[in-house]
Amino acid sequence: MGEDRIIETTDLTKAYNGQVAVDKLNFFVREGEIFGFLGPNGAGKTTTLLMLLGLSTPSGGRARVCGLDPTRDSKKIKAMVGYLPENVGFYNDLDAIQTLEFIADLNQIPKDEAQGRIHEALDLVGLEAEARKKVGAYSRGMKQRLGIAEVLIKNPSILFLDEPTLGLDPEGATKLIDLIARLNSEKGITVLLSSHNLYQVQRICNRVGIMIKGRMVVQGTMDELAKEKFGLDDRQYSLEEIYLKYFQEA
Ligand SMILES: Nc1ncnc2c1ncn2[C@@H]1O[C@H](COP(=O)(O)OP(=O)(O)O)[C@@H](O)[C@H]1O
Ligand SMILES: [Mg+2]
Repeated sequence: MGEDRIIETTDLTKAYNGQVAVDKLNFFVREGEIFGFLGPNGAGKTTTLLMLLGLSTPSGGRARVCGLDPTRDSKKIKAMVGYLPENVGFYNDLDAIQTLEFIADLNQIPKDEAQGRIHEALDLVGLEAEARKKVGAYSRGMKQRLGIAEVLIKNPSILFLDEPTLGLDPEGATKLIDLIARLNSEKGITVLLSSHNLYQVQRICNRVGIMIKGRMVVQGTMDELAKEKFGLDDRQYSLEEIYLKYFQEA
């Protein structure tokens, strides 16, 4: 295992009732990077994230997260990884501070420490001014940022974000993606970001991987992927062009 590989999978496999969802998956994420986890619906991205967290048991192969095996050390991994699932639910009658107090309590963060962390998280995600508004009145973008504040409460060293910009308008998506870039550069958090928003992914990701039918068909920097598919060329290819090319040939 490479020194700086904070996440690594070897032939990681998951079958549901004989149907293979993740098929001998091999990929890695380097410490400190933002990795764009791409692929069509049903490719197996969410299933992979669940296995990395130890929330789903692999049918074969193995994974390492911070050197730990998710099938044995799920609890330790969950303490280090902030996971924002595709559909985050909130109590609409609570405001943002009450929501985060609830989360701090669930994570057994001492009360005297919780308030500081809550306000730091709200400040980071830009919700301080709206902290006393009921979450039911939040826009989708604000809810996603609150979701990120929730996972920041436990000071994670890694973030798993599953399609965080889904359903956001361009302004909301840009704000969220800028926030993710800031958490990476200022707090040094490693990010595994699954998304269909190729324009936004292209802006912030160091490396990307394209998953199709349970397999990682390619991973690398955008330059590496473009070179492999289009050869040496003066032109800059967008991630969308690169992605479609791999997709058509898969
Ligand atoms: N709990 C489950 N039971 C049975 N099949 C599942 C379950 N979760 C996912 N699948 C199937 O596994 C495949 C991969 O799904 P998923 O990991 O959600 O893909 P993605 O997140 O890339 O859209 C799909 O065919 C999906 O229908
Ligand atoms: Mg998914």
